[in-house]
Amino acid sequence: MRSRFIKHFDGKTGNVYASPGRINLIGEHTDYNGGFVFPGAVDKGVMAEMRANGTEDTVMAYAIDLKDRVDFKLSDPEGPRASWARYIYGIALEMKKLGVPVKGFNIAFAGDVPLGAGMSSSAAMESCFACGLNDIFGDNKVSQWDMVLAGQATEHNYCGVNCGIMDQFASVFGKAGCLMRLDCRSREFEYFPFKPDGYRLVLLDSVVKHQLAGSPYNDRRNSCENVVKHIQAKHPEGKFETLRDCTWEQLEEVKEEVGAEDYKRAKFVLGEKDRVLAVCDALNEGDYEKVGEMMYKTHEGLSKDYEVSCEELDFLNDIAKENGVTGSRIMGGGFGGCTINLVRNDLYKKFIDDAKKKFNAKYGHEPKVYDVVIGDGSRKIC
Ligand code: GLA
Repeated sequence: MRSRFIKHFDGKTGNVYASPGRINLIGEHTDYNGGFVFPGAVDKGVMAEMRANGTEDTVMAYAIDLKDRVDFKLSDPEGPRASWARYIYGIALEMKKLGVPVKGFNIAFAGDVPLGAGMSSSAAMESCFACGLNDIFGDNKVSQWDMVLAGQATEHNYCGVNCGIMDQFASVFGKAGCLMRLDCRSREFEYFPFKPDGYRLVLLDSVVKHQLAGSPYNDRRNSCENVVKHIQAKHPEGKFETLRDCTWEQLEEVKEEVGAEDYKRAKFVLGEKDRVLAVCDALNEGDYEKVGEMMYKTHEGLSKDYEVSCEELDFLNDIAKENGVTGSRIMGGGFGGCTINLVRNDLYKKFIDDAKKKFNAKYGHEPKVYDVVIGDGSRKIC
């Protein structure tokens, strides 16, 4: 990265920052519903070299992996068109809103989070760039939580995805060896050392690309908000901000009026809220079989009720079941990407071999395999 930074700009070096992608053990599509999530940062991420270039507001950016150079001005109301450059533009403007006097800078970056795999390569970019801008222009005065929110606002305001806070949270706050249980409403969280004796976590990437922008992801969120609106209208005495505030009975009361699709989606979210808590208890007791059982239930809900799965991911989930894998489910936003699998060490090899063979026979290519290593969050490297 440094050699590219030197080559593409003025020969000088800058500071280097890194931020990870994430996994999520359980708690999918609960973040924007005020629920709980259970993510951890991974050992894959985005790294950027950055330096103030002395201009008022010209950004010169180079995406090393794409070999693409884009220059733009922060004062341009449209911003750059290249989707990767919009993350830089968006986060710079969001950091400015937080009081960081961002001026022109040079940036080159590269990453090893597989794109479209549901491992949050975009959050890794946002938090990496936020960390750099905070350091270079802001005396590191912006708090970690504000950087999380700036990353989320970048998605909302410049990239067309109305995401929750899980991905940016995990990328900023991650800690090696620990999963984190986050209450997305109060923003309280706890680190959970994750050393499942006799088991491991592995991701199988279907390599089906998901595209969240302007997509079905936002529809899901709208459905949830619609159900909350109906429940609120029925109960003017209460305060219903998200599905977190709603009970099963209240959901049943609005079943007819919200329609079958929104009902099913809300049903998934209420179930998922309960499952995350069940997984916490199970982890405290070291009961990984229970954790796995919840993961399968989540998959079923994401596939049948929330409808964010696809044929390839359901197929991978079936193979996991056939192989006696403890738990398996779609991970992340859905519409492609990975399954996350909790598998006993003694079954690991057979499972992976079988998944490769069967997937290849059906879809003409093998799934990619990523062993999960839980790593640290955003940081300055040098
Ligand atoms: C995407 C979003 C997150 C979250 C997940 C689903 O990764 O960015 O905020 O909603 O989907 O759990």
